[in-house]
Amino acid sequence: MTEPIRVERSAAAAIVTIDRPERMNALSWATVRRLGEVGQELAADASVRVCVLTGAGDKAFCAGADLKERQSMSRAQVREMLTAYRSDLGWLARSDFVTVAAINGVALGGGLELALSCDLRCAVPGATLGLPETSLGIIPGAGGTQRIARLIGEARALDLVLTGRRLDATEALAVGLLNRVIPESESLLDGTLAWLKPVIEGAPIAQRAALLAVRAARALHLEQGLDYERELYEICLESEDRDEALRAIAEKRKPNFTGK
Ligand code: COA
Repeated sequence: MTEPIRVERSAAAAIVTIDRPERMNALSWATVRRLGEVGQELAADASVRVCVLTGAGDKAFCAGADLKERQSMSRAQVREMLTAYRSDLGWLARSDFVTVAAINGVALGGGLELALSCDLRCAVPGATLGLPETSLGIIPGAGGTQRIARLIGEARALDLVLTGRRLDATEALAVGLLNRVIPESESLLDGTLAWLKPVIEGAPIAQRAALLAVRAARALHLEQGLDYERELYEICLESEDRDEALRAIAEKRKPNFTGK
């Protein structure tokens, strides 16, 4: 069987590609399991600062659940799959590095839910995003209802979840589903890596602290969040990279961050 996931490195960025273009990169059981293993492998590698998740080919990022495989699955197997979405794909929202979905085509159903699990999202101008599950007699089951409402607000989330309508990249950007659309003049990967260069080359301790602090805002009450921010600031304040940044400004040069 061919590997459903490809992993490559570009300096501190890991590029994770769902590689099933003949099925529009749909999420089969094996794909979800392998993505889970990839998450563990990347977590064990402290040099990874950014993980770019994308799809093979130029048609699909991911067309959601593998509907062909789903036809032969029992209800019990579907339940197991829903559990696996949460356990095996949860790292996209919890890792110590920044996760970004680089949407190279359609991101539908579970495909958009994958992208919603990431910290950031960008897309090609021709991308199509949507949660069509209700038209299939189900609801998004890989975190989609919860994540989309938190990301773009209840009214917009209800519009998309209840109607199942598909958005083009321009509308997805306007409603806040996408952080940016990479212009056609650049390749999606190059554009994504150029956008995230400050993360890839920035002070590792501060980058991680910033990621954890902002992510925490959705779960914590404000006072708790302010305490957590202070805690994380303290770690930055004690870092050598913070002193190096101040020296670099005084000496009018680029800082040389070491992650200490
Ligand atoms: N699971 C498995 N296979 C899928 C798939 C999915 N989710 N989506 C597409 N494919 C397969 C098609 O069956 C087809 O295979 P075939 O040639 O062997 O029949 C191949 O990918 C190409 O799809 P096709 O529909 O011919 O291409 P298209 O460019 O016209 O449309 C989509 C692409 C993704 C827009 C369309 O296939 C679609 O709407 N798929 C369903 C998406 C969906 O509802 N996902 C939510 C699941 S909860």
